[in-house]
Amino acid sequence: MRVILDCDPGIDDTIALIYLSALHHEGRIEIDAVTTTAGNIDADQGAVNAAWVLGQCALRTTPLAAGVTTPLKYELTTTPETHGPTGLGYITAPQRFVESDWDALWIDSIERGTQDLHLIITGPMTNLATFKRLHPHHYARLQHITVMGGAFNYPGNTTPSAEWNFWVDPHAAKEVFAAAPAPLTVCSLEVTEKMLLEPERLEGIVDKLGAFPMAKKLPEIMRFYFEFHEEVGEGYRAQIHDLLACEIALGTVLFDAPLTTIDIEADSELMRGTSVIDTRGIWERENNAHVVTTADIDAAWAEFERACGVHARFTNGGLAAIRHARAED
Ligand code: BDR
Ligand code: CA
Repeated sequence: MRVILDCDPGIDDTIALIYLSALHHEGRIEIDAVTTTAGNIDADQGAVNAAWVLGQCALRTTPLAAGVTTPLKYELTTTPETHGPTGLGYITAPQRFVESDWDALWIDSIERGTQDLHLIITGPMTNLATFKRLHPHHYARLQHITVMGGAFNYPGNTTPSAEWNFWVDPHAAKEVFAAAPAPLTVCSLEVTEKMLLEPERLEGIVDKLGAFPMAKKLPEIMRFYFEFHEEVGEGYRAQIHDLLACEIALGTVLFDAPLTTIDIEADSELMRGTSVIDTRGIWERENNAHVVTTADIDAAWAEFERACGVHARFTNGGLAAIRHARAED
């Protein structure tokens, strides 16, 4: 299976990157490209962060590019209060130049075939909507797309009814769902808010990571996210939305996701970014989404912790240590 991750790192996006890079080292997936979208931070800073995280994960040569810099119509809003001033909590990644040929990376990947290609979007959907406009034929070939976004008959986290990724660029989400190349898998707040990281589990994760370079940095990244969640009344813990979306995309966790039809409100001030699900088929429109309704959260954490062990082995013994461990599985 090959993966393009389109993300806005961002703390939970960073955890998703750590997870995917472990699976890449194991040979379970191949990360074709990482691209960034403007959301938690701007797309360039997101790319600087992603470059640093990939470097920490021993994936310095993974193709990486910054994506579109602003939402389709609205001005960009970012979240320094949630993810820290540069998106990585109390850590600042070293500045560096990152390419911006993101759509060329997507095209290269699509031209290698789309049957085993999974596009995972853990930020606003600006790049995908732009890709649809710029490269409609390549867009139409995408078969497997999973997005973290939306809140269906469930409270929003940005307005009373809207989730952050859909709220930042609702026009992009609306445009994609109106012309989906295949039904997208949608991981909304209803499931991702259950993926809660508590300080105690973080300690276990840091232990499992062993000598992996980021093990020392992760507590400083997470401390910011814990403090934010505490300030907004969620307790001293954190919702790790984007990791669960990746596990669902790759099928490394069990979940239910009935086929349905969704739409996103874009222009109204009150309802901006609100996602609506037509469970009863009232619109009589084609299905455009598999909306995830349940996921095995305990198994999702167990799978992430397993992946942390992969990083520890890779840090100590490189690929040989990982192959040896897989042979013994
Ligand atoms: C989403 O918004 C961002 O803050 C997170 O990274 C996640 O992708 C949750 O609403
Ligand atoms: Ca994100």
